[in-house]
Amino acid sequence: MGTTATINGKEVFDLLRDDLIALEDEFGHETVSDVRAITEIGEYLRAGGGKRIRPALLLLSARLFDYQGRGAVRLGAVVEIIHTATLVHDDIIDEAKTRRGRAAANTKWGNSKCVLAGDWLYMQAFKVAVQERNFRILDTLIDLTQQMVEGELLQMEKLGKSISLEEHFDLIYRKTACLFSVCMRLGAILGGASPEQEEALAKYGHDLGMAFQIVDDVLDLTASEDVLGKPVASDLREGKATMAVIHALERCTQQERVKIETILRDRAFNGVTHKDILSILQHYESLEAASACAAGYAESAANAVCGFPDSEIKRALLWAPEFVIARDK
Ligand code: IPE
Ligand code: IPE
Ligand code: MG
Ligand code: MG
Repeated sequence: MGTTATINGKEVFDLLRDDLIALEDEFGHETVSDVRAITEIGEYLRAGGGKRIRPALLLLSARLFDYQGRGAVRLGAVVEIIHTATLVHDDIIDEAKTRRGRAAANTKWGNSKCVLAGDWLYMQAFKVAVQERNFRILDTLIDLTQQMVEGELLQMEKLGKSISLEEHFDLIYRKTACLFSVCMRLGAILGGASPEQEEALAKYGHDLGMAFQIVDDVLDLTASEDVLGKPVASDLREGKATMAVIHALERCTQQERVKIETILRDRAFNGVTHKDILSILQHYESLEAASACAAGYAESAANAVCGFPDSEIKRALLWAPEFVIARDK
């Protein structure tokens, strides 16, 4: 096997360029309805960009087995449409005003229309997925969607409260890691992977997704709105304790705990600033602890695919954990 040469983000993008263009096309075509509001909202969401990391993972997974069919682009669109639907509903639930550096769909069209657009998008994703005529694919997608909806509900029930790390990990699995894992699994199914190979790729997706969400939560605390494209410290303002905050809560003084819990409970920075919280987190090296945990997951993701023979696609899979750890948005 020897040492695996590295590949950078641009090279990964070049590798997937044609498929990603086809994917945008598929997404665009599949989000058209006779009802204008749906088409408008769908187009607004598609045009808003996004990293397309989930379909990219699905494409890489299928191509690891030299899959040549149309299914990878189609299912790539499916997972991106499901991701989009969850974001539309999530922004309504979180009362978020901004997404991807511009007005969130609910800000422009209002909650009622966006709930329905989200529902339509979910069903459209399944309509496209049915074209594969494969029950395992449908089972996987149905289970995924239920996990994600349950995750949003569980999170809602825990808002404003300090939760255990275990509960938090269950939430981020449902919110993010489950979809990442499904992307890898779907690519493996298309590519005709053996059960062992499919499990290895699903584990890669899971661990990468955990790393992705932990980094996302750290960025929410440390990044700037300009770079992130959404307001910072929004997790605290939404009453969500994420990993660094949970880490600090497990170690801090009673006085510090009151500060953090006040924000979580009030869902506002009343008399306690974002800076105050950051200095508590710094004192207990909580941001470092969360970043180290993310790095551990990223490394574990890379290890999950080390058994595959060297190829450009494998190198792209090894690049992704590094990208997730290093990203600033
Ligand atoms: C946002 O996901 C939701 C989370 C899981 C944190 P992304 O950061 O992948 O969003 P886009 O699609 O690139 O905007
Ligand atoms: C994103 O969750 C929605 C899902 C992954 C289902 P969050 O509410 O934590 O993320 P942002 O900050 O809105 O992207
Ligand atoms: Mg949100
Ligand atoms: Mg949310």
